[in-house]
Amino acid sequence: MKIILLGYMGVGKTSLSKKLSKKAEIPCFDLDEIIEKSENSSISSIFKDRGEVYFRKIEHQLFKKYIESDQNFILSLGGGTPCYANNHVLLQNEDVISIYLKASIGNLTERLLNKREKRPLIKDLSADELQEYIAKHLFDRNYYYQNAKFTVVVDGKSKKEIVKEILKLI
Ligand code: S3P
Repeated sequence: MKIILLGYMGVGKTSLSKKLSKKAEIPCFDLDEIIEKSENSSISSIFKDRGEVYFRKIEHQLFKKYIESDQNFILSLGGGTPCYANNHVLLQNEDVISIYLKASIGNLTERLLNKREKRPLIKDLSADELQEYIAKHLFDRNYYYQNAKFTVVVDGKSKKEIVKEILKLI
């Protein structure tokens, strides 16, 4: 079983996958971390030194490698993973349970306000600009996120509640 958690930056993909991993006793991996290890560099440095196009290429290669492996796992994606290189099609694979963690624009803005620094796409935005950026970006990305087999709304729910909801789906 391959469980894929996707959704916008800051929605809690990585921390929820760790919690879920403990409950479901399935190992978890984080695609950003896999990329950082493979490139021996941070996401910020990869964007700065090699550019986003290079990052998206490596992201696609490593995502495909995991999806095509025989292992069981929970994999948390980067916020942009489903939106490039036809990665969204892989969310529909037969042995994949893909779950879109959906949050409102207001919730995401709040979550990301103090977490901009390590995220190259939003690091230079002011607090005022952030909300409008997220609104537009989420609108563009929605099409790709909708390719997930399931959607779990996270607004107003504790991590424990969200994990419980996910456990019912898998
Ligand atoms: C990105 C999200 C980031 C990371 C990179 C690009 C995006 O992951 O992959 O900065 O395009 O939304 P998180 O969603 O874990 O922040």
